[in-house]
This record gives sequence, structure tokens and C-alpha cells, in this order.
Amino acid sequence: MHGDEAQGRQRHHDGASSSGERGEEAAALLEAAGAALEYLRVVPDRRVFPTEQALTALSAFDEPLPDRPGDPTQTLRFLHEIGSPATVASNGPSYFGFVTGGAHPAALAAAWLASTWDQNAALPVMSPVAARLHAAVQGWVVELLGLPPGTELALVTGATTANASAFAVARDSLLARHGWDVQARGLIGAPELAVVVGEHAHATVRKALGLVGLGRDRVHVVPADDQGRMRAEHLPDLAGPVLVVAQAGEVSTGAFDPFDEIADWAAGRDAWLHVDGAFGLWAAVDPSRSALVRGLERADSWATDAHKWLNVTYDSGLVLVRQPGALRRSFFATADYLPPDSAGRVELGHMTPQTSQRARVVEVWAVLRTLGREGLVHLVGEVCAHARLVAGELTAGGLRVLNDVVLNQVLVAGRDAASTRALLAAVHDDGRIWCGPTTWHGEPALRFSVSSWRTTRVDAERAARVLLELARQVDAIG
Ligand SMILES: Cc1ncc(COP(=O)(O)O)c(C=O)c1O
Repeated sequence: MHGDEAQGRQRHHDGASSSGERGEEAAALLEAAGAALEYLRVVPDRRVFPTEQALTALSAFDEPLPDRPGDPTQTLRFLHEIGSPATVASNGPSYFGFVTGGAHPAALAAAWLASTWDQNAALPVMSPVAARLHAAVQGWVVELLGLPPGTELALVTGATTANASAFAVARDSLLARHGWDVQARGLIGAPELAVVVGEHAHATVRKALGLVGLGRDRVHVVPADDQGRMRAEHLPDLAGPVLVVAQAGEVSTGAFDPFDEIADWAAGRDAWLHVDGAFGLWAAVDPSRSALVRGLERADSWATDAHKWLNVTYDSGLVLVRQPGALRRSFFATADYLPPDSAGRVELGHMTPQTSQRARVVEVWAVLRTLGREGLVHLVGEVCAHARLVAGELTAGGLRVLNDVVLNQVLVAGRDAASTRALLAAVHDDGRIWCGPTTWHGEPALRFSVSSWRTTRVDAERAARVLLELARQVDAIG
């Protein structure tokens, strides 16, 4: 702690008036705004992964809990001084790791205001504004994604939770058809419920299945083709009840499962079709990509993230369920002090695993309203175009691209496994861009994902140049 901060804490301890506290609040907010603006100014040009020096400086946080209250502005200043340099510049234009959106200005600014409101979006009586925005967003998203009218939407923390929420609803609905009330009786002794997933289902699908009692390992696994798409002709001959989990956007290749064929298979059975589209679902907004999502609307539920391609801040995911009232049946909780059951109203506390929850909808609404339909189509199109551009430049320069670039994901390899590893190490050492590793069909690869609204064509060209320059340095070009 700095000397002036220690003196400030002493003053606080001696007592502060409420008008003084309000002044202090304003000062802290202005400090935060200044720090945020400075951060945004420097982030495009700094190393993407923090320097060793910045990481070492994090030891400043290893301080004992202060005995006395302090000035929030001082705390903010300290946080910015030590914390900001140690962030990963994932909100900059040169981050291509995992599948990570930036924060769109509409989202970021709305987040500031929404935090100031500090609404609990669980019930309309706690936040009429959140409920009203929710109704607007539900209508827009259902229309944008071409989903059946009447589909209900709820906001959760991310795609993992969105998948888990949909699985809980599927489980309850499928077993209710067999006279079994899971919410009342649990799963012990329940009729058998089969689960079918593709070989390339995201790792968190199994986590979500485990969470809702359906088991990570008791799944029927359908083999995938060379791009990671489920081979529908290998779907097992199960009568049901059965939950089948398809995927929009394989996490390495961006490939889409054949929804029409999977829906045909489900149509003849006691089945529930769910689509995990953590990032890929947003391809549905772009008419030029309709072939990828053909049959998507035939599913019973869908999960996606808003913190990836929609570029809102963490953490924000969407679960969508075709059957009105089904979310509520799985997540309703009553108490004497809560308003009486009011089916039909948006009550997120009764439609999600959380009860109290922040108003995630504010940022989603702000981005959708700011971009509009054309802006969203543009965002999806640009991101895909940048991925294709990078893939084209790398291939022309002698690196190998291992996937069909149908969306925003590019798998890059050098002339052999050792040189691919050397290239990844060089990228991390260099710091101008960042992407992560994976293994594809047994071969190491760089997993390069374009997901941020901030990445322009110029940034994509620069990233390709950096990769090729480093590839030449480590002799990765065949
Ligand atoms: C296809 C797919 N499903 C689920 C997830 C999990 O998303 P989250 O980390 O937002 O829970 C991801 C994350 O990349 C994903 O790509």
C-alpha cells in the first residue's frame, strides 16, 4: 500500500459524510472511466499476452487485508496500475485464441450503465426494465435465427450452462411423457433415457450432461467425418426416450452437423433434438450461410453464447426452447414472499438455474439494437471473410490449413509436428498476436479463431504476415 493511500484509510476510519461518499463515488467512477479509456487506447498495440514484468508485478496483490476502510479511487488506481498490464488483450484486435469475442462499444457502455443500475433480473417486480428488454430480445433473436415463433429464451452464464439448462428441460419433458416427474422424484428409478452425441461434441457438453444427472459417459457416440461433422447415417436405432445433441460450429473447424438428417431421424422417435451452437448459431443470421444451418429450426432447443460472436462482455449465454412453459416447469421455485405463479410472464428467476441474476439482457439488447439486422450480417460476414483471408495467405505462403474454412476457425500446421510446435512457441514468444494449440486427427496444429468485432481486414492481414514471418524463422514452411 502506498503512503498516501494509508493516510486516506486513516481519514476514512475517522468518518466520512454521505455527501463526501457520493463525491467519492463520482471520483471512483471517473477514475474507472479514465482507466478504461486509457486501456482501450493502448491495448491494440501492446503485447497480446502480458509481459513477464507485468506478471511479476501481480505480487503486489499479495497484501494483507487492510484493517481500515479506504478510498475507492485509490483502490481503482491500484487495480489499473497493477491489473491492466497483466490482462490478456482479448479485447484487442489481435487475439485469436479459443473462441473469444471482444466487447462491442454498445455492450461495454451498456454494461457500465447496467452495473450502475445494479438490477436483479430474476423478477419483473425487481426490474421492470430488464423484463421489458428481455421480451424485446427474445422476439428479435427468435426472428434473427429463424427459430419457430413462440420459442422462449433465457439468459445464463454461457453455453455450458445454456446446454445444461436445455438438457434439464429435455430430460424433464421426455420423462414426463412416460409419467415420470423428474423435478418431484429425481432420476433414481426413472425410465431409461438415452443420450446421443457426436464424436466431436464440445467437451462441455459432457460436463453439462453430468451436471443434470444424465452422465458424462453413458452416451451413444456417433462417429464424425474429417471436419468433425456427425455422420447421421450412423445414428443408433433407438426408440427413445432419447436426447440427441447436435452441433453448430465444431470448436476447431467451425463445421456444422447435418441438422435436417438428424431431425429426420428424431422425427420417427420419442426424441428431443438439441443444438449446441456456442458460436456457430449466429451464422443463421446471414442468408448467405443458410446451407450450413439447414434444418436448424427443426430442433427442440438451442444454446449459444453472447460473449463470443455477439461481442458482449463475460459472462453471457442464451438458451432457447421451442415448447413454451418448458423452461419454467424445470426451474420454477416458489416461496411465500415471491409473487404468485404467473406463467407467461418473463421471470428469469423461474426459467434458469440461477435465481438472483444480473441483467445480462441489457448488453445483448444494446448490441442487437445498435447493429440491427444488417450490422449483424456484416459482423458475421466480416469475421468469416477474415478467417478465409488468413487461411488463403497462409496456404499461399507455404503453411498448411487443415480444415475447410466454412466459418471463423482456421487450423494451421507447419511442415511437420515439430515445426508446428516451434511455430506456436514463436507466436507466444513474439507477442504481436495470440492463438492456442490443439491436436487435429493426431497432428498438432495452431487453432486460429476470428471472433472479435475489433479485428479488421488490416489486422487479419497483419496476423497472416506475422505467422508467415515466424514460420520462416523457425523453418516451418515445407
Ligand atoms: C461448441 C461449444 N459448446 C460449448 C462451449 C462452452 O462455452 P462457454 O465456455 O461459454 O460455456 C464452447 C466454447 O468454446 C463451444 O465452442
